[in-house]
Amino acid sequence: MKELLAEASVRSIRYLEGLQSRSVAPSPSAVAQLRRFDEPLPVHPTDPAETLRLLDEVGSPGTMAMAGPRFFGFVIGGSLPVTLAANWLASAWDQCTGLYRPTPATAFIEQVALRWLLDILRLPPDSCGAFVTGATVANLCALAAARHIVLKRAGWNAEADGLFGAPPITVVLGAEAHPSVTKSLGLLGLGRSRLVKVPVDGQGRMLADKLPAISGPAIVCVQAGNVNTGAFDPTEEICRRAHAAGAWVHVDGAFGLWAVAAPSHAYLTAGIAQADSWATDAHKWLNVPYDCGLAFVRDPHALPAAMAITAEYLPTESDYRNPADFTPELSRRARGVEVWAALRSLGREGIAHLIERNCEQARRFATQLSAAGFEILNDVVLNQVLVSFGDAEKTQQVIQDIQSDGTCWCGVTVWQGKTAMRISVSSWATTDADVDRSVAVMIRIAAR
Ligand SMILES: Cc1ncc(COP(=O)(O)O)c(C=O)c1O
Repeated sequence: MKELLAEASVRSIRYLEGLQSRSVAPSPSAVAQLRRFDEPLPVHPTDPAETLRLLDEVGSPGTMAMAGPRFFGFVIGGSLPVTLAANWLASAWDQCTGLYRPTPATAFIEQVALRWLLDILRLPPDSCGAFVTGATVANLCALAAARHIVLKRAGWNAEADGLFGAPPITVVLGAEAHPSVTKSLGLLGLGRSRLVKVPVDGQGRMLADKLPAISGPAIVCVQAGNVNTGAFDPTEEICRRAHAAGAWVHVDGAFGLWAVAAPSHAYLTAGIAQADSWATDAHKWLNVPYDCGLAFVRDPHALPAAMAITAEYLPTESDYRNPADFTPELSRRARGVEVWAALRSLGREGIAHLIERNCEQARRFATQLSAAGFEILNDVVLNQVLVSFGDAEKTQQVIQDIQSDGTCWCGVTVWQGKTAMRISVSSWATTDADVDRSVAVMIRIAAR
């Protein structure tokens, strides 16, 4: 065991150190080599060291360098070294962290991490919360709590009686809401096609004065940080209108919620603390390993009302928080340990610097690309930049060539009808020199 784990550590460190110099995208030949995994299922045991060797020698070159400093696709934060180290140790512990009594260490660490999260994100301190796999499931959990409460107020128990015959719930969201919110609402039986979509402006922000008149059980979903532009819905105004009508307000802040932790960007989050529930990710801007999303709900009883279970064989009696009372899963890994490690090692200042540095780097991209004559399609308020290199065909070709060049990696999107390259700066590892080096490549390729 000792040699095997030491070898895994050596190989992991070598992989991470190599990220600076390797192509961000895997080469076509490295991807082709992945077929070597496609063996028949072994009949007899095989050497664990040989299995690890195959994983590293064939798997590592076939990966995308998402943990490196010049991956700007989607919204991906590389893992801070301390979070990876905490992940390794917690994996060695292998705690099934559903209940406090069998797993006191990890359940308690998660409880502390949750308190710190509510503090740094400036959310109501008595809120309940859940560590889940990502913002999609965080949206699902928070919206399950919302569904429970708005139907309870109408005299209906969704968990006990289901939705057949329940009072209808009006669900309102912006036309540029992230599809994971729509998916969550569909999973919750609230119907993807019966959602009321509010028109948005050129940055994707909901037009608050276009909010429909609301009555009866209702949920309004706002967005803190559009995945393309980084823009925030006018949450203060929406909360005022929605709460006046008795509606629940949910905030999808997968990465944008973290703006509140950076003094220069906190203004974007005005009104967010007035909402009733929130979803965000730690694997995005807090730079912990996948997978780690976070759901928070103001009413401390609302998540357990939707999620908790009991059984004779489960030791659920506890003075401390049972994580599984708040999540869809019973068995779960203690992903909050990495959150705790990130928060403890960065502190308030470190988190503020991380967010501010990435936002500054996004502006650096925009300034240089704009000076080179390329159109920036969004107001760069956060860490997202949308750039057009010309018409759709030219922009797509440039993006493809940038990806093949390997210096950096950015993805494609279509923003309100216009094809664009998305640059998302979300990693602790990115330096200003990485930005300059990437911009130089983008300009060189686009000029061809
Ligand atoms: C605004 C928003 N909401 C939700 C999600 C889904 O997050 P996850 O992929 O962690 O489930 C994303 C992902 O980028 C996002 O940007």
